[in-house]
Amino acid sequence: MSEPTLEVRGLTCSIGRRTLLRETDLTAPAGTSLSVTGPSGSGKSTLLSCIAGLHTPQAGTIRVGGTDIAALRPSRAAAWRLHTIGFVYQFGELLPELSAVENAALPLLIAGRGRREAYGAAESLLGELGVGEIADSPASVLSGGERQRVAVARALSTRPPLILADEPTGALDESTTDDVCETLFGLPARYGCALVVVTHNPVVAHRADLRLTLRGGALHSPPESAPGSTPDSATDTTTAGA
Ligand SMILES: Nc1ncnc2c1ncn2[C@@H]1O[C@H](COP(=O)(O)OP(=O)(O)OP(=O)(O)O)[C@@H](O)[C@H]1O
Ligand SMILES: [Mg+2]
Repeated sequence: MSEPTLEVRGLTCSIGRRTLLRETDLTAPAGTSLSVTGPSGSGKSTLLSCIAGLHTPQAGTIRVGGTDIAALRPSRAAAWRLHTIGFVYQFGELLPELSAVENAALPLLIAGRGRREAYGAAESLLGELGVGEIADSPASVLSGGERQRVAVARALSTRPPLILADEPTGALDESTTDDVCETLFGLPARYGCALVVVTHNPVVAHRADLRLTLRGGALHSPPESAPGSTPDSATDTTTAGA
């Protein structure tokens, strides 16, 4: 069997006097999605920061696309991240003065691709994600749903094996949340990436192949699969797509 896209083993992370993650394991094969819910302040965003190599944990190993991120030299980390991990945040976090296509092309331009190639690829992606018609609109005028789709296109632009989304629907109404979820949770099957979504919305969490809750420093698997179920019993099943 091929190596999983994301493999976390024995991750322990403390900030100040609080241990947010205690010997945590997590695995996400290519083409699968997992969601992480949990109380505010439980450490969900910190978990994503550790996975992205933006926060150094006290212990454990994190491998993304076969690379042990602790072994990355700092001078290589940014370029590695550019090609390995795509990010989607709560408000899209687009550059407002740039158009949708310019935002989506940004990682490719930073990666050194020519303008024609970068804009062509970004425009194709926007079309594939259903927002091709707003390619030339400034990001500042986009609706919340359009913004998030452009953010997804930007995250995908370098075709990274892993997409991390932190509260990607936190600023959207119910119907737009459904639309953005359709796009987001379709990515693993369509593009072969692994997807990790942090959310407070149980309906969004339920869309993932594997649903986990972070509580008391440990990842728990909910006992039942209904959306909104209370995930309060622990198991050691932490492999998406299992
Ligand atoms: N750089 C930092 N310096 C000090 N404390 C931090 C730092 N980053 C996170 N924390 C603390 O770590 C804890 C976990 O934060 P984190 O942002 O990971 O929580 P979260 O589960 O994502 O919460 P939310 O659902 O509200 O986004 C919080 O108590 C937070 O204040
Ligand atoms: Mg957070």
